[in-house]
Amino acid sequence: MNVRRVVLVGLVVPSFLGLVGMQKTPGEGAPTFKANVMPIFEKYCLPCHAEESFNPSALSLDDHALLMKGGEHGAAVVPGKPEESLLVKKVRADPPFGERMPMRPKRRKSVDRPVQLSEEDVRVLQEWIKAGAKND
Ligand code: HEC
Repeated sequence: MNVRRVVLVGLVVPSFLGLVGMQKTPGEGAPTFKANVMPIFEKYCLPCHAEESFNPSALSLDDHALLMKGGEHGAAVVPGKPEESLLVKKVRADPPFGERMPMRPKRRKSVDRPVQLSEEDVRVLQEWIKAGAKND
């Protein structure tokens, strides 16, 4: 009787695929908050949007909970809807209000620091929101 084996394979293979799917690297599948989104915030946003610092628009990006709380204009992230999420709109050209993020510091201290997010970074934010904006 092979029924047992079929059942076993039916259970093991999807869960194995599920495990593989969880270890996302940029470029394949949905990015995760800790591995892909947070490093972007640390590099480009936290100099301003940290709870303990200047923190413009009351938007703190120190962790998932604070991000989901949003800022002055309400929710920064609408799970599943990158096009409606302020987090995405503000890093693109023509934001709905104010400046494109990351805001350019008045005095540029280092020339080699990129001023805008790369296409890949914007894609990471979009894909993560599309996949549900989870604290993963
Ligand atoms: C040099 C400081 C600075 C940096 C760096 C910066 N911001 Fe901002 N951010 C601001 C200021 C000032 C405002 C308020 C004015 C505006 O909206 O243009 C703001 C507003 C925002 C808002 C609107 C929040 C609300 O509810 O009104 C979002 C979203 C945002 N920033 C996201 C980001 C992201 C994402 C990054 C990193 C990619 C980033 N910012 C980097 C200064 C900064």
